[in-house]
Amino acid sequence: MPTLHIRTTPPGPRARTLLRRCERYVAPSATQAYPLVVDHAAGCHVWDVDGNCYLDFTAGIAVSATGHGHKQVVGAITAQVDRLIHFSFADFYYPSYVRMAERLAELAPGREPKQVFLCNSGAEAIEAAIKVVRHATRRPYILAFYNAFHGRTLGALSLTASKPVQRRGFAPLLPGVFHAPYPDPHRSRGDDPAEECLDHIENVLFRTVLPPEETAAIFVEPIQGEGGLIVPPDHFLTGLRRLCDRHGILLVDDEIQAGMGRTGKFFAIEHAGVAPDVICLAKAVGGGLPLGAVIARKRVVSWERGSHTSTFGGNPVACEAGLATIEVIEKEGLMRNAAEQGAYIQKRLRQLQQRCRSIGDVRGRGLMIGVEFVRNRRTKEPAERQRDHAVQEAFRRGLLLLACGRNVIRISPPLSITREEVGQGLGVLEEVLS
Ligand SMILES: Cc1ncc(COP(=O)(O)O)c(C=O)c1O
Repeated sequence: MPTLHIRTTPPGPRARTLLRRCERYVAPSATQAYPLVVDHAAGCHVWDVDGNCYLDFTAGIAVSATGHGHKQVVGAITAQVDRLIHFSFADFYYPSYVRMAERLAELAPGREPKQVFLCNSGAEAIEAAIKVVRHATRRPYILAFYNAFHGRTLGALSLTASKPVQRRGFAPLLPGVFHAPYPDPHRSRGDDPAEECLDHIENVLFRTVLPPEETAAIFVEPIQGEGGLIVPPDHFLTGLRRLCDRHGILLVDDEIQAGMGRTGKFFAIEHAGVAPDVICLAKAVGGGLPLGAVIARKRVVSWERGSHTSTFGGNPVACEAGLATIEVIEKEGLMRNAAEQGAYIQKRLRQLQQRCRSIGDVRGRGLMIGVEFVRNRRTKEPAERQRDHAVQEAFRRGLLLLACGRNVIRISPPLSITREEVGQGLGVLEEVLS
């Protein structure tokens, strides 16, 4: 295992040069929290352009499930590059698209046959899902949740409700989108936050502004990621399923961040035993290459020829990378590893919580873990600055973390992380927080 070393306090000279050029030529809309300029990566370690070595607790925003540069994934990519880089499934056929569709349809929960549409990103998968549910139901309205993140293209952004900066200056968005509260067990004042949220939909929204018989779909993240790593009680998802069935509404499960084994099951919604009507995947599904997927019950896909497609969606190289990723996840027991390492990380963080008063909550499933920072445990007042400081300090010591929500640190390493690497990362985090 490589040792973490920070030879030159980042940003080092090479990084600084690139950052200057970046400021001059690159549109300033991204959200980089610290000046990491990546040169290369292997497994769970990342090297910057100045030779510093870091441990990756981000997996490039929950993408590199098998670890960076996994041999089998790289092999599948290079073999496909040699054979065929592009031909566009919009107008032609090639085997890897069909094999990927087959594989995802087999993996999706529920007995009904499924059909799959492949695209290039998470936001594109959400856009396609919006078009699937509207076309299938011929209903105009859509319901999503506060704190949700579904992407930044205009349709997806209309569902996203996690930070004002993501919407500021971009209105008007898609009409007919409503939001409901998402159950947050840590912050709820009541006994059953799931029931309260379901009750709000049924007895407030459906009785006032949102006719259920005109609602096409409810879009939900099985665990909210970017919005603050919020894990709802399982009966929230089972309750949503029942509510959808009652009103003929389709349930769309956004597994873009939580899927592909990250929570210990292939799809996070499987923990609740729920079969959605539509699933959106992206991030890890392309093994590091741009790929998104919509997996829908066959009877829901009423699209006709020419109604939706894309030049690059389901590119053959991305499909091969994705197929190899799925094979590695299964063959190397990465879902079991995610569950085991995740439980261990949470246990260690809870021990740390006893010593560190600013940790208000530790939560998550598998390797999708959140650490919430508060100024006062009783009032739960968010401690954004402490959270930001912890992320910066960890970076300076060689640990890559991401923030989410207002005051939460997100831990989402590759699913292949070893106990030794976990120990290395937690050692840094403990140093920073104590
Ligand atoms: C749950 C969820 N949905 C959708 C998206 C959007 O994906 P992309 O950034 O590939 O457009 C993200 C990205 O973070 C996500 O976490």
